[in-house]
Amino acid sequence: MKNLYLIKPLPLGTISPLIYGHFSEHIGGVFYDGIYVGEDSPIPNIKGFRKALVDAFKAINPPVLRWPGGCFAEVYDWRDGIGPKNQRPTRLNWWTPHDKRFEPNLVGTHEFVEFCRLVGAEPYFAANITSTTPLDIRDWIDYCNSPQGTTTYAKLREQNGSPEPLNVKYWGVGNECWGGGGNMDPETYAHEFRKYAAIMRNSAPGLQLIGCGPNGNDWMWTEKFLRVFHTSEHAMSGYSVHYYCGRSGDAVNFSNDNYYHLLAKAGFMENIIQRNWNLISGWGKQVQCPLFVDEWGCWHPDGSGPSKGYNLFEQQSTMRDALVTALTLNIFNNHCDKVKMANVAQLVNNLHCLFLAGKENFILTPTYHVFNMFKSHQGATAIKTAVEGQKIAFANPDSNRQEELEKLSISASIKGSQLTLTVANLSLDEPEQLQLNPVGFQLKKDACITLLNAQDVRAHNDFDAPNAVEPTSISGSSDCVAIPPATVATIAAELA
Ligand code: AHR
Repeated sequence: MKNLYLIKPLPLGTISPLIYGHFSEHIGGVFYDGIYVGEDSPIPNIKGFRKALVDAFKAINPPVLRWPGGCFAEVYDWRDGIGPKNQRPTRLNWWTPHDKRFEPNLVGTHEFVEFCRLVGAEPYFAANITSTTPLDIRDWIDYCNSPQGTTTYAKLREQNGSPEPLNVKYWGVGNECWGGGGNMDPETYAHEFRKYAAIMRNSAPGLQLIGCGPNGNDWMWTEKFLRVFHTSEHAMSGYSVHYYCGRSGDAVNFSNDNYYHLLAKAGFMENIIQRNWNLISGWGKQVQCPLFVDEWGCWHPDGSGPSKGYNLFEQQSTMRDALVTALTLNIFNNHCDKVKMANVAQLVNNLHCLFLAGKENFILTPTYHVFNMFKSHQGATAIKTAVEGQKIAFANPDSNRQEELEKLSISASIKGSQLTLTVANLSLDEPEQLQLNPVGFQLKKDACITLLNAQDVRAHNDFDAPNAVEPTSISGSSDCVAIPPATVATIAAELA
């Protein structure tokens, strides 16, 4: 039995709901056959969007959805995605060299915003600063946000079915500008950011501009970028970081050491946040550069998803991915003073997805269930937790070196009169008993305990067995909670 202290007098900050954000790119099967099936499809749909996905997605309160990429964003011309669908051009996609598929532009600005409205999410557009000009982006903002009946673009928007402004607030200034987004060095990007931001900010009031930060642990990007950016008058509202914890073994067939290795790599998110924040704080840019981890997740070898490799990057999602999800969301909650948005990559039929879909088939992955189990943290006050540490030893399968990771990942928050405590027990074989010790408050006796686990961490849902991994809820006591091995748990209790 371990004592877990829940310390209300030590609030960590408000958990931005946007930490529970998502990402959807025009790649493989994310949009076509995933999110969008077309209005004439026999698959139940709302305005062409897969109804089962709309319903399930809406149920987890998605706060924000990033679009249209990813790398695709850097070759996207927004004008291709407006007007009558049968007149829209078919283009090369960024990913065409990998999967020989083309972009039909059936989902464009209006359709994407429509989808966001159906599920209750704010749209977050990633602007192309590699192959379009600042004026092109200004025009897109004008088209989306200018008041009805004012500019020629506002009138065109009305002609295309949306008289009212679309009010797109979040705008990324490029994507991965250290890579596919222009192959820039950090100093060059800092100048490009300032140039694009000057025009974008002037195009509509109240825009939140997000700058491109590093690839994972490339601290030098942040250091060099800030060296140029820090003198800028042009504020940004978020500094984007991408971190894929990658792979260890196959998506489904992995060893126990692979299991621990991947969780340890996922835990590196903690360092990414802390070290970037140290640099940002060093330049005094905490207000302008809160962290937006706008792509994160596991990236397993191709081909494990139901389409058997047809959908680029589509992967199966096991109980191991669910534990990575819980570990990562707990890290974000505990760093809610630094991280203001995060977007898991990607929504459906892709990396670390919440859904797998193909024709009439549609399932929820274990990752979906974790988002559902954590949703009460959105907008709550995170509080400090303390528990006796315990390390798990494993052999890193790449280097064969002995390594360690913490057995428990925990975060807690209070919203109104409700405590939400989320715990991931990462051990494959040891259960955990936690004695809850509220400090500075008291809890009512009854708790609702939801557990997500399976006989084997390789367990997953597929079209033949859609509910192989799903949570169970039981009534329990808020004094003491038992958490089985390899389990994600949510404990919800009322304050007394
Ligand atoms: O999510 C897949 C790709 O990963 C995105 O297009 C890119 O931004 C990242 O490298």
